[in-house]
Amino acid sequence: MAFGEAPAKIILFGEHAVVYGMPAIAIPVNSLSVRASIEQLEADPASVLVEIAGLELSFWLDDSDVSQSLVKTIRILLDRLDAPRNHGLKIRIESTIPVASGMGSSAAISVAVLRALAAHHSLQLSLSEQSALAFETEQIHHGTPSGIDNTVIVYDRPLYYQRGEQPEFIEIHESLRFLIASSGQPSSTAEAVSGVRQRWERDQPRFDAVFAEIGKIAAQARDELRDGNAIAVGELMDLNQDLLRTLNVSTPELESLLDAARAAGAAGAKLSGGGLGGNVIAVVEPAKLLDVEETLLHAGASAVYHVKDIG
Ligand code: PMV
Repeated sequence: MAFGEAPAKIILFGEHAVVYGMPAIAIPVNSLSVRASIEQLEADPASVLVEIAGLELSFWLDDSDVSQSLVKTIRILLDRLDAPRNHGLKIRIESTIPVASGMGSSAAISVAVLRALAAHHSLQLSLSEQSALAFETEQIHHGTPSGIDNTVIVYDRPLYYQRGEQPEFIEIHESLRFLIASSGQPSSTAEAVSGVRQRWERDQPRFDAVFAEIGKIAAQARDELRDGNAIAVGELMDLNQDLLRTLNVSTPELESLLDAARAAGAAGAKLSGGGLGGNVIAVVEPAKLLDVEETLLHAGASAVYHVKDIG
């Protein structure tokens, strides 16, 4: 049996603006992950069986609707790895990453499956080859992915990312603690990205100015994250959220989680990922973590995750 694994991710600064060439910062979240395994089927049927653990879902790749993103993803990966689709393989996917929540579930599934397939076929893939393949599958979900999700998930390191540039690995001071709170509302990255694009097309100078401001915040945040200055990181998160709000990707539910986090003592907070649902992230001094967590749950968060030891 061959295995592949990939972590979740969260964006700390710069979502949306990163699609328009601005820098953004993302970190891996290793407490959540996808694990894929590949097994040769004894009877060797002429297709690939895909099983999703937890959902009790399984399907044969050749019989499945090609418009489904997971079917498309696995077909692309098999084609690119030159792996035969007409051999009896079982691909089993187990994930603890919440779907449609801005934590990179789709990119992590791609990376875990491609790693398992590469191991099964004894192929060596460099990290940059893995990232390029996962980027191709990310295009299934929305037409213009920035590439930040596949990059942070493949390299499994905090990064300062700008489209078309080599990823820059950054340090996050060990004292910084983040809480991620899920709104419980699904977030459609495709919908959020296309809404921003439509509004950008109607008023490019105003939106370009907002993207440039977000880019400046990400650049400043890189230094404050390295130095472990929670107060400054929090202020920059709040400023980033003000700008995300002007892009119309926030929701009343996300705003009430953000208000709750700040009222309970978080140094700052913002939505993370595409928005219109999904998660918020807050930077919180260690002594206040439990208060902020409890307040977020009270304010309606469907789950809260702690992020520490980021590296
Ligand atoms: O919703 P997520 O976690 O996939 O993040 C999307 C981030 C965007 O900047 C909105 C889109 C992108 O491709 O970078």
